[in-house]
Amino acid sequence: MHNLSTPQPLNLSTPQPLNLSTPQPLNLLNPSTPQPSSTLINPPIMIKTSNLHKLFTTDEVETTALNGVSIEIQPGEFVAMMGPSGCGKSTLLNILGLLDNPTEGEYHFFGTEVGKMNERNRANLRKGNIGFVFQSFNLIDELTVYENVELPLLYLKTPASERKKLVEAQLDRMNIMHRRNHFPQQLSGGQQQRVAIARAVVANPKVILADEPTGNLDSTNGLEVMNLLTQLNQGGTTIVMVTHSPHDAGFAHRIINLFDGKVVTENFHV
Ligand SMILES: Nc1ncnc2c1ncn2[C@@H]1O[C@H](COP(=O)(O)OP(=O)(O)OP(=O)(O)O)[C@@H](O)[C@H]1O
Ligand SMILES: [Mg+2]
Repeated sequence: MHNLSTPQPLNLSTPQPLNLSTPQPLNLLNPSTPQPSSTLINPPIMIKTSNLHKLFTTDEVETTALNGVSIEIQPGEFVAMMGPSGCGKSTLLNILGLLDNPTEGEYHFFGTEVGKMNERNRANLRKGNIGFVFQSFNLIDELTVYENVELPLLYLKTPASERKKLVEAQLDRMNIMHRRNHFPQQLSGGQQQRVAIARAVVANPKVILADEPTGNLDSTNGLEVMNLLTQLNQGGTTIVMVTHSPHDAGFAHRIINLFDGKVVTENFHV
């Protein structure tokens, strides 16, 4: 059993109400100008991977999806990950999001080694700490807009009155309140992605992982999603976004380029 209280305690309890004007306590960095960690006193490294490998074995075919990835991401950063199809971007994002384990290597999330955690502990850690946004929205068709956004809070056992407040605040913020009783299939792609972002942030996660969040959107809706992600980042939420779009990557502070399962370059925007 992993001891989540050391060295950096992770908040697995009911999240605090959203207050995007106040940075997270761990957000020691100014999001607009990421600084090297050496300028901070005992900075909690949010994400630190060391020599991650991921091997998929299916029908006697072995695929090395990750081939030694070592990266660090600090609280408050907005990082884009780019690279050709099949280079391992989604695989890396899934491991960072505790949806999957690496085959080899270490992953420290706020100082706790999580790379070998079992699914149950990973699921507990995901709740309230990590929000996901996917290219295909991944909303639950049988649930209304309101119920989709409420779901993470139900998992966290947030009391009903607080749930209502948090869900309504997000629906309002994403300008989707008027669709609260609609089902996902009744919405446009842009509206569905706004609901998905509301769901990703409703539990006030430390990090949002977005896998090609504008991939299925036209440029107007894509820009709206990028503006929403930027606003969240300016409010203190760390964002790691996979994208094929240089335009979207331009919203990030740093671009990590992957090729054949390895990091090939990292560029900081000044
Ligand atoms: N569950 C799996 N089983 C077997 N192979 C997999 C699995 N998931 C990914 N792969 C393989 O791992 C490699 C990396 O896949 P990944 O989905 O991470 O690429 P990607 O960079 O996200 O590509 P894209 O830009 O097309 O989304 C690919 O060769 C892929 O076929
Ligand atoms: Mg992918």
